[in-house]
Amino acid sequence: MTHQALLQLLADMSLEEKALQLCQLPGGVYNPEAAVTGISRYEVDPRIKQLAGSTLGVGLGKKGSGTIRAIQEEYMKNHPHHIPLLFMADIIHGHRTVFPCPLGQGASFDPDMTEQAATVQAEEAGLDGIHVTFSPMADLSRDARWGRVMESTGEDKLLNSRMAAAMVRGYQGNDLKDGRSLAACVKHFAAYGAADAGRDYNNTELSEHTLREYFLPAYEAAIRAGAKLVMSSFNSWNGIPVTGHPWLLKKVLREEMGFSGVTISDWDAIGQLVPHGFAADKRDAALKAMQAGVDIDMCTLAYTEYLEALVQSGEIDEKLLDEAALRVLELKNELGLFENPFRGLDDAPRYTDAQKRAIARKAVAESLVLLKNDGAALPVKGQRVAFIGPYAQSEELISSWALAGEKEHTVSLWEAAQSAFADGETQLRTVPGCTMLDNDTELARGHYQADDWDAQNEALLRDAAEAAAWADTVVLCLGEHHLQSGESTSRVSLRLPQVQQRLLHTVAAACDRVITLVFCGRPLELKQVSALSQALMVCWLPGTEGGNGIMDVLSGKVPPSGSLPMSFPYSVGQEPLHYDSYPTGRPKPASGWAGFTSRYLDCSNDPLYPFGFGLTYGNLSISPVALSANELTPDGSLTASVTLKNTGDLPAARTVQLYIRDVTGSRVRPVRELKDFRRVSLAPGEETTVSFTVTEPMLRFWRGDDTFGSESGAFRLWISLDSMSGDAAEFTLKA
Ligand code: BGC
Repeated sequence: MTHQALLQLLADMSLEEKALQLCQLPGGVYNPEAAVTGISRYEVDPRIKQLAGSTLGVGLGKKGSGTIRAIQEEYMKNHPHHIPLLFMADIIHGHRTVFPCPLGQGASFDPDMTEQAATVQAEEAGLDGIHVTFSPMADLSRDARWGRVMESTGEDKLLNSRMAAAMVRGYQGNDLKDGRSLAACVKHFAAYGAADAGRDYNNTELSEHTLREYFLPAYEAAIRAGAKLVMSSFNSWNGIPVTGHPWLLKKVLREEMGFSGVTISDWDAIGQLVPHGFAADKRDAALKAMQAGVDIDMCTLAYTEYLEALVQSGEIDEKLLDEAALRVLELKNELGLFENPFRGLDDAPRYTDAQKRAIARKAVAESLVLLKNDGAALPVKGQRVAFIGPYAQSEELISSWALAGEKEHTVSLWEAAQSAFADGETQLRTVPGCTMLDNDTELARGHYQADDWDAQNEALLRDAAEAAAWADTVVLCLGEHHLQSGESTSRVSLRLPQVQQRLLHTVAAACDRVITLVFCGRPLELKQVSALSQALMVCWLPGTEGGNGIMDVLSGKVPPSGSLPMSFPYSVGQEPLHYDSYPTGRPKPASGWAGFTSRYLDCSNDPLYPFGFGLTYGNLSISPVALSANELTPDGSLTASVTLKNTGDLPAARTVQLYIRDVTGSRVRPVRELKDFRRVSLAPGEETTVSFTVTEPMLRFWRGDDTFGSESGAFRLWISLDSMSGDAAEFTLKA
């Protein structure tokens, strides 16, 4: 449809019809069986159901495509202007094929892989009739207590920016009219990840400089990559709820970032302006959200009930409503829905199942982060290998956000181990060892509690001790329950359940080669786990091909290559914890008396495992940094290089990281900041030179005078394999 035709359509629509384009109803209204976040049924007036512009959460069940076709047919038939209904859903890290959770994808430091995974997700969801995904989540995540860190790609703005942009490119492809693509909705704008004390939905208190410098870049990167929608977040920022914040949603988002697409509230976020204490009632909430710049009301029905009246009373200018409704119509047009309301449903897939699984398997292998490998415990060796622990046989390797993922299609570690060791030379055993959770957690009470919990665990632990004594290698599979990370899963403890800790002690006492795998959606306290294990590897929530991808690394077929996308603390008391912290006026000395310096009495300032850390199988040596020049001019560049050599007997693969520090500035600069990164793979004995180009724009920051720019002076530069190691080279930026 031409722009002129869209304008004509808008002119022909009644006030009510325009207002209802801005109403999003939960899928349960159209299909009571739809898998919908939170609510599955919703009673609304049939007229609203007929005129609402969009819905969410349909197309996730087994009969997805049939459902969407039937709903669209009925809707189109009855809509006065035959405007198609827009179907949105949370396709976060997989639709039918589930990839590692976003934090795991962050660990791969491989935006190309993430882009390819997003292409697969878009195709699967598009073929089921879905048009829009509520992804990427570009929230910077510095606090492991916040359960939604699982949905982010981590604590660093550059990594998050590259990952968010990659997801947008993958979902949207080159042609949004192609039914195998999805429009991307970047969320949760803004600073949702900075919730006070890591408690979900909590206020965020951040200076404008921290917001601009650290929290906004990844949303902006997604917008620059072309994201068609932006979701406003639940939280308030410095006391003003974002969903009612014109400065953020208009000035920053539209004027400064140049975003011209559709804005949508988070679920019921407009209604929540009332309990926030920002709006007197739902009518006031509708007024404030509309004035702030929220186009679509997700599931509050505040716009449905009050927008028309607010325009009639003159409190809202009809022009504002028209602009928002036009943006929604434009999105439908860009998706090709006016020509084909059944977009995607009749298209042929480009990927075969085998291809999708192969991509997912590779993504898993790349996401694994090896934290310890004493005595080359890995790759797995031995005649008798026992897979012990609640994750050994579990198919629950997908997160609560993989809404259409089916655990029956998921390859467990035990299943994968049996085919990896099918030669018959290695004897295998498996036992669960203990329950996944302690008896007293809220989750256990809701789902799994049994009267004989303790007796059950005593028996399981006895079996585990016996299996561990039999084995020469134990692969111990521990972790958080998959429902312990995601929305509304904040925690004050970052430890494994006590029953799993008991299992660890039991197994470590019986076998002297324990390889511990930790499945999780957030950084955990792993000091004790590490001390009792010869090898330790973080496996995140790996998805459909979890077992196979992990076995590829355990067996030595693929070297581990992942790097931590978030710092792993010694103690929860260190949170929020991130590598790019500011120096203090009283830094803790490297050695000697530390009194009256910035430190904890009872813990290191440093993390147990820093951002960017990971090991591989080969032995990587890295040369000192060579700079092509010691001075950089604003329009010039310099090259920083290192030579990496694999001096080991096994293949190596890692991400080489470029960090820079501006030594003095009008606003203090972090002790290190990631500026670039590159994955490398080296065969035994192989060496390669890795070079990064440094230019002036990489050195810009939000300065003391509240403008972005660089400042001349001294800089330090590291090329290293994590955010703490390596020796710095120095250069100067000339004015
Ligand atoms: C979440 C969003 C999600 C939305 C729709 C909300 O509760 O915060 O991330 O996209 O629900 O399911």
